[in-house]
Amino acid sequence: MTWGLQNRLSRIIRPTDGHTVMLAADHGYFLGPTHKLEIPRKTMEPLLPYADAVMVTRGVVRTSIDPGANVPIVLRVSGGASVLNEDLSNEKITTSMKEAVRLNASAVALSIFVGAAHEHDSLVNLGKLVDEGEDAGLPVLAVTAVGKELEKRDARYLGLACRIASEFGAHFVKTYYCDDFSKVVESCPVPLVVAGGPKLDTELDALELAYDAIQDGAKGVDMGRNIWQSTNPVGMIRGIRAVVHERATPKEALEVVKGAKPKK
Ligand code: R5P
Repeated sequence: MTWGLQNRLSRIIRPTDGHTVMLAADHGYFLGPTHKLEIPRKTMEPLLPYADAVMVTRGVVRTSIDPGANVPIVLRVSGGASVLNEDLSNEKITTSMKEAVRLNASAVALSIFVGAAHEHDSLVNLGKLVDEGEDAGLPVLAVTAVGKELEKRDARYLGLACRIASEFGAHFVKTYYCDDFSKVVESCPVPLVVAGGPKLDTELDALELAYDAIQDGAKGVDMGRNIWQSTNPVGMIRGIRAVVHERATPKEALEVVKGAKPKK
């Protein structure tokens, strides 16, 4: 890894404890105005002080994040299919490395679709993006997207997808939590962060997911809906921080959530 690439990665995964709380807010790139993310600036602004990095598209960076907000950007650079299409796996690189550098992104992110119709294209996208990232000094986050096939969310499938992502040169990988998650971690030689997935029933459920993932070896979370679809988003991101950075138990973190007053 070059110095610049390492430096950018350390803006996201904190060198002090090797962990990260990334705020995912890129959902609009295929879902449009997702519930509670209809006005990205309004959703994200109160959360940015608690995020180690934010994962967004260039459209959201330009329109909804103050350039003075000193939050590292993980720039979503793949896309090309919407939720209206049966096949979500038909993605290409939609934002250039030059644009990522211009936006002062700390990393770029793309989805790979292992086992899906466009598996091949998405993996070739990853290989090319890693080459460009190495040239520019930008780390690449591979997202093991499972699209509409969420039934594939087990250690065997996710272990396969994460390992392939690392073999293609991804500098870190985002995946989903599952039973036997430690097996996914063991067989992936680069850092893993977990998505939250669809909103869980309770705040405690989401805190437990983050806790279990960290216990099993994840380096952090890249969480969206379970934070900003909560009735207390600031409380939730603070609770997640307590789990990820302070090793709080889910019950201790729930007290942190409750301690932060929800905005009226
Ligand atoms: C999905 O591909 C998007 O990249 C989201 O960033 C991802 O799903 C994480 O958000 P959530 O925690 O809402 O699942």
